[in-house]
Amino acid sequence: MIGVSMSAEERTSPEEITAAAVASFDGCPDPRLRELMRAFVAHLHAFAAEVVLTESEWRELIDSLTATGHITDERRQEFILWSDALGLSMLVDALAHPSATGATETTVLGPFYVAGSPLRGYGESMAEEPAGVPAWVHGRVLSVDGEPIPGAELDVWQNGDDRLYAVQRPEAPEDHLRGRYRTREDGSYAFVAVRPVPYPIPDDGPVGRMLAATGRHPWRPAHIHMIVRASGFRPVATHIFDAASEYLDSDAVFAVKRSLVRPFVERAADDPKRPPGIEGEWVSLELDLVLAAGEEGGEPVDPGRTA
Ligand code: BEZ
Ligand code: FE
Repeated sequence: MIGVSMSAEERTSPEEITAAAVASFDGCPDPRLRELMRAFVAHLHAFAAEVVLTESEWRELIDSLTATGHITDERRQEFILWSDALGLSMLVDALAHPSATGATETTVLGPFYVAGSPLRGYGESMAEEPAGVPAWVHGRVLSVDGEPIPGAELDVWQNGDDRLYAVQRPEAPEDHLRGRYRTREDGSYAFVAVRPVPYPIPDDGPVGRMLAATGRHPWRPAHIHMIVRASGFRPVATHIFDAASEYLDSDAVFAVKRSLVRPFVERAADDPKRPPGIEGEWVSLELDLVLAAGEEGGEPVDPGRTA
């Protein structure tokens, strides 16, 4: 039998493998793609080398990616959930909005946004069936220099007190807990939401298994989502977090920013400021939203629903 023996100097080293894989992109004609692929492979190899990744750990990683592909469809996007749960979505958001413009801060869009919510009137409710304690949300949309912006649009969505978004409940009215509202001439807006409650991100797939295996919880603090748009201004996709919520310090997707945490004021049923249409105990939230001048941009990238 002819054996292949070699001296230590003849063996191919890990560094040579990395160098060859990185250099394989040298001829990539697109300079940005070349930069992305070279850096990605270099960091991927550095990770494996640093932790001395074993063959069985590598196999588990491949199995997890395979399961992620299998569970992903047009309603559920487990790859984005990985990006959210590993903080990558928030990092990309921060890199896209690097400087303090004075505008309301952005945060993750999340998987439950549905374009084309119904236009609702000033002060109308977006709850099409009982869904929790009514919340009167009101304020103005302003430019960074404090000028009111008439005709701005607030595209709002949230979960109910069963923790679910309407898109997670096939039996729910299609437009439940979502709506678009326009500001008036003085920049003011108002709508009736419900006080949001914390909820877990979908944790019955590979991301949930990672959270359980690493001792992390899947919960998000209570929040209302909105995208604020106005002609001539940069759109803002953001959340408003309830200052009294649990999990503000341990959001499963790292999306809490201090400036977005606001007090919801608890009100008695006989509070004289009770808006028409609200019955029983309620809460109120006053919130001005600020937009920076700039390109309007398109619709948010389809996040892929997570049913
Ligand atoms: C959400 O807030 O709707 C959300 C964001 C990221 C992952 C899961 C849910
Ligand atoms: Fe949410």
